[in-house]
Amino acid sequence: MSNEQLDPVLVSVAAYNADPIAYERHYQSHLLDRPTRFASLLPPNAEILDLGCGPGRDLRLFTDAGHSPIGVELNASFVAMASRHGHVIEADIRGIEDLFSPQTFDGVWAQASLVHLSRKETEQLLRDAKSLLRPQGLFYACVPAVGETGWVDETDGRRWYTVWPDDHFEEAVSAAGFEIDDVNRGTYIEVWARKGAR
Ligand SMILES: C[S@@+](CC[C@H](N)C(=O)[O-])C[C@H]1O[C@@H](n2cnc3c(N)ncnc32)[C@H](O)[C@@H]1O
Repeated sequence: MSNEQLDPVLVSVAAYNADPIAYERHYQSHLLDRPTRFASLLPPNAEILDLGCGPGRDLRLFTDAGHSPIGVELNASFVAMASRHGHVIEADIRGIEDLFSPQTFDGVWAQASLVHLSRKETEQLLRDAKSLLRPQGLFYACVPAVGETGWVDETDGRRWYTVWPDDHFEEAVSAAGFEIDDVNRGTYIEVWARKGAR
């Protein structure tokens, strides 16, 4: 079966198996100011959902900042690695609404983890994230903003990327019912947002 007939998310997640240790090493200090800022904006001992937590760097940072994070990750190698740093569930974030009750979290963190989902899957996930947050809960996500949506052959494997040009991602976050706090635009677009009072 060609990659085109397979679920792009599953193919992309499997590509991280090529060298998960190298991934961890490569990203250990990449854009650390983002999770640090996220941790600082939350109340003490906040419950944080780390979507697609990878090897768990941010789980450790959130725990060290006095919070209670939980990771959800589909790649089994990353689940094992991230479990050194906190509680991790091996699951697909596309089914996140079945894993937790509404209004469970103070923060939902999605650092480069929606990148392999289709536009439609991401739009559903944004609605689910809003429902899982408590009132005034904090949301962060970054997704590619430059290039073409589709398969990319990388040195360690093939991955699907959905690209969100112009204001498309910001608009999707708003359409899910969030209030946008801040947007950083670069090769990735980063959106900081809040759930309102309800
Ligand atoms: C680019 S990595 C980012 C990892 C981590 N958040 C970080 O910042 O280093 C994308 C991560 O999301 C995970 N992922 C992608 N789609 C997923 C899905 N549908 N369910 C669970 N995890 C997923 C991948 O396995 C991978 O660990």
